[in-house]
Amino acid sequence: MVDSPTERQLATSVLVVGTGGAGLRAAIELAERGVEVLMVGKRPKADAHTTLAAGGINAALSTMDAEDSWQQHAADTITESYLLARPDTVRIVTENAARGIEDLERWGMPFARESDGRISQRFFGAHTYRRTSFAGDYTGLEIQRTLVNRAAQLGIRIIDTCYVTRILVRDNVVFGAYGFDLESGDRYGFRADAVILAAGGHTRIWRRTSSRRDENTGDSFRLAVLAGGRIRDPELVQFHPSGLIEPENSAGTLVSEAARGEGGILRNGEGERFMKRYDPERMELSTRDRVALAAYTEIKEGRGTAKGGVWLDVSHLPRETIMRRLPRVYQTMLELQMLDITRDPIEIAPTAHYSMGGVWVRAQDHGTGVEGLYAIGEASSGLHGANRLGGNSLIELLVYGRIVGEAAARYSAELSVQRRSHGALAEARAEIDTLLTADGRENVRALQRALRNTMTEHAGVVRDAAGISAGLSELDEIEDRMADIGVHPDAAGFQDLAHAFDLKSSVLAARATLEAALERRETRGCHNRSDYPALDPRLRVNLVWSGPGRLEREEIPAVPEEIARLMRDVSTEGKLVE
Ligand code: FUM
Repeated sequence: MVDSPTERQLATSVLVVGTGGAGLRAAIELAERGVEVLMVGKRPKADAHTTLAAGGINAALSTMDAEDSWQQHAADTITESYLLARPDTVRIVTENAARGIEDLERWGMPFARESDGRISQRFFGAHTYRRTSFAGDYTGLEIQRTLVNRAAQLGIRIIDTCYVTRILVRDNVVFGAYGFDLESGDRYGFRADAVILAAGGHTRIWRRTSSRRDENTGDSFRLAVLAGGRIRDPELVQFHPSGLIEPENSAGTLVSEAARGEGGILRNGEGERFMKRYDPERMELSTRDRVALAAYTEIKEGRGTAKGGVWLDVSHLPRETIMRRLPRVYQTMLELQMLDITRDPIEIAPTAHYSMGGVWVRAQDHGTGVEGLYAIGEASSGLHGANRLGGNSLIELLVYGRIVGEAAARYSAELSVQRRSHGALAEARAEIDTLLTADGRENVRALQRALRNTMTEHAGVVRDAAGISAGLSELDEIEDRMADIGVHPDAAGFQDLAHAFDLKSSVLAARATLEAALERRETRGCHNRSDYPALDPRLRVNLVWSGPGRLEREEIPAVPEEIARLMRDVSTEGKLVE
């Protein structure tokens, strides 16, 4: 039996779900406009996933290369998205990027600078110019600190022990959210005019991933879909070339692209600098999809290291460069492997890193089509297409944080009447009650592991129809087993209940991913179909998933001329997926 739980009722104008950079930036905009805002999230705000973003944030500031422009940034973004980025979204981000950096500067962000005070910018893969600003390789950590400090100055209330299980909706209009406290188990019933979903992506459903255990478990996908939203391009998942292989419990931990940006070299197990066979012009600074596929191919074809990786070597760089510009990589390697990167190469392999698809949103304000519900950051979609440029996600959250904050403020101010649904609330309560009485034999963590194995086996860097279909069958079995789970919170808290909800979200995200991956019968960017090794121009569409078996194609508007004339051809030479 469930004891009558305490249910705290909290009301606010705008509720932000997620305490990372995107949510914080939106909340800051709301608070600066005098709008009441409450932030909730399942991770400590000082340690949200944004802190792991390493190498930098993009804006065409032209501090290093005067020729750069926002139009060129837009052209690079669309080119490298393999034409799946939405041009209006790209224009909004690149045109407003400099302002995003200015906001951070004003709030005290310690950007790396040249001796004359200019903000330094480094090369990141596939950018025409140096336009990635940074703070060593702790850029995300410093951004998160800067935003948390600004939020504190503004007195923004943050509850970062709250797991949100449902967005509350009546007749396609949001009226709040429901959740529970991870420490006490108390329930939360939130009343809000608008809700901003900033709860990340779904890359934790692969075995080797740059996300930690309870991050990016697909929560945004589930919350949005149950509320009536849709998912755009769930199959487009970025595998970053450089994730650690060991130790096992940290497999996938990111080694920042900054390492290659500063001159790091990739070699296979035979000592060959293999990128010359895949992209001789750009070599290690090719796009992420190309470098990841190249590393995957070397390993698969038996030219990897004994442990199944390739080498990333920075030991030829001046020690001072490593200490100043790659301090996190240096520390991480010492801590996890007692390896000194000033002397020895790092053994790496591709790691699931970023959800380039996400909740379907409009470009102008990131509204989801459910009135009063917005999505932002990795939870959202539209900017990255089939290959994200490193550094574009951090700028996106700055730009759209401001825009979504403004849009939600306007929506709240204009809302004249709001109707609630007792049924929606009762359903949210009952869902938690049911899980808390679940005493079956299936272990939630074991099922999460099974799901990660399925996705790794059947929806990794290279996919085909037979594998994806096998993945869907395995998913059916996992869902059947979920009917018999046991959930056992204990004195330490309600983590077990959180894992059960993580699992529900992950399963939904996996189904969306596999179904869209099956439908995209081509090879484009990160999506390598060995049974369809060529890009199909007819599939220059976004795939929009709204539930099992429901997939639609969404046209992508033409690229405006001022951007199109700066774009290069996307060559697929060197992409070996067979
Ligand atoms: O490699 C990196 O530092 C990652 C950056 C990014 O994903 O934007």
